[in-house]
Amino acid sequence: MTAAQRLTGSLAPHAQRLSSIRIAELIAADPARAGDLSLRVGPLYANFSRQRIDRDALDALLQLADACALPQAFRALFDGERVNVSEDRPALHVALRSALGAGEVARDAQAQAAQAHARMAKLVDDLAASDVTDIVNVGIGGSDLGPRLVADALKDAHSGRFRVHFLTNVDGSDAQHTLRGLDPARTAAILVSKSFGTQETLLNGRILKDWLGGGERLYAVSANVPKAEAFGVAAERVLPMWDWVGGRYSLWSAVGFAIALAIGMPRFEELLAGAAEMDAHALQAPPERNLPILHALSVVWNRNALGLSTHAVLPYDERLALLPAYLQQLVMESLGKSVTPAGQAAGVDTVPVLWGGAGTNSQHSFFQALHQGTQTVPADFIGVVNPDHAYAENHAALLSNLLAQTEALANGHSDGDPQKTYPGNRPSTLLLLDALTPASLGALIALYEHSVYAQSVLWGVNAFDQWGVELGKRIAGELLPAVRGETTEVSDPVTRELLTEISRRRSG
Ligand code: F6P
Repeated sequence: MTAAQRLTGSLAPHAQRLSSIRIAELIAADPARAGDLSLRVGPLYANFSRQRIDRDALDALLQLADACALPQAFRALFDGERVNVSEDRPALHVALRSALGAGEVARDAQAQAAQAHARMAKLVDDLAASDVTDIVNVGIGGSDLGPRLVADALKDAHSGRFRVHFLTNVDGSDAQHTLRGLDPARTAAILVSKSFGTQETLLNGRILKDWLGGGERLYAVSANVPKAEAFGVAAERVLPMWDWVGGRYSLWSAVGFAIALAIGMPRFEELLAGAAEMDAHALQAPPERNLPILHALSVVWNRNALGLSTHAVLPYDERLALLPAYLQQLVMESLGKSVTPAGQAAGVDTVPVLWGGAGTNSQHSFFQALHQGTQTVPADFIGVVNPDHAYAENHAALLSNLLAQTEALANGHSDGDPQKTYPGNRPSTLLLLDALTPASLGALIALYEHSVYAQSVLWGVNAFDQWGVELGKRIAGELLPAVRGETTEVSDPVTRELLTEISRRRSG
């Protein structure tokens, strides 16, 4: 039986039964529900009681997890089995922070990770002892989003030794604005690229190399060490990456060099320890008490049983404002697939469109649509219990808004005026961090990583390749001579017309 048949077959009757029952009714009928459908893992608490699900539907989902052998799939991931089938390699990001994987492949990865970690620590010390004040991380996708998210989220934990900047876009204005005000004599650049073949990073890397006046303060992180050295980065300043770590799963490696410079090595290690705690939980907890698995099941339920096509992530902490952008890559690059590793149609709806933004700001922009729009959008609300500031009234307001929104979305309200009617019955999960620390952030990100993996197993797709990004890159390369004006030979008639328009309007 295919994953698709299992999904549609086993969930449909439950969705049908629940179609006329509201979340508020489920909660009223089951007083223990709010507590029972919650779970704590270290500094992270999750409450699923406002999902549109009952205990029978949850049992069906857990049977699905069993049929898909989720615990065994986690064991395979940790042990370094070749779970990335299309590229015939393991996905061992867990080896960057945990020693839970057994067998030679996993052990070897753990040893390589430890070695690179020690080299990175030495470079952090060297830079701290130098007169460098500013660091520019040059990278894109997984070589940017993870370090950028963590450096931004942990701004209260910064050591203050360096200012860290991120240069990403091939749009030259990004380089122009990032470098404005920086002193090349006191700036170091880290070129982060797993492949060292990414157009954006190579172009920006060249800008940085010229701007710095050579390679003396140029660092690199790459799985293609020879290419980084050929670019002009001295061997002792190139930190390794490996083909067994996906870019979007790589912030735990030397890809996190900018994070380590921002917060210092001890706190970087706390970040890894927080992720390791979630790793141990993901690998060892039974599915019915396993947070990543329960999270994945809730996503699958909303996508496949309720047919909801988007998923919002709504952090109620300004420091987590970049989390939705980070998760867009993690989730949508991992799960935006429609064929199985064997090349057959997945036969099931896979990734919902992930989007979101920080609260309370988003309440004053798109929440109107969440409350009264025609589409139901399931959401993850994320809150932080203890702030790192002294504005107690602001924090009370923040938390009360967080709680109010989840309540309003679930319960709705009607006083007879259709304009002021809130249909409610809109599902959400609440995630609460005791405080935003390196450890709790590590646990939160690892939760999402493991949920993504569990979803991929349930849907029968490979979470670790990304062939979908290649076609556009190839066409862009082919069009470059025409954009430069070196040729007018372009096969696509619309692109030809657009190029004519661009060349007509060009001022320079
Ligand atoms: O094009 C997508 C992608 O390959 C991502 O998966 C990756 O994180 C990003 O580009 C950057 O790749 P690299 O680290 O090799 O420069």
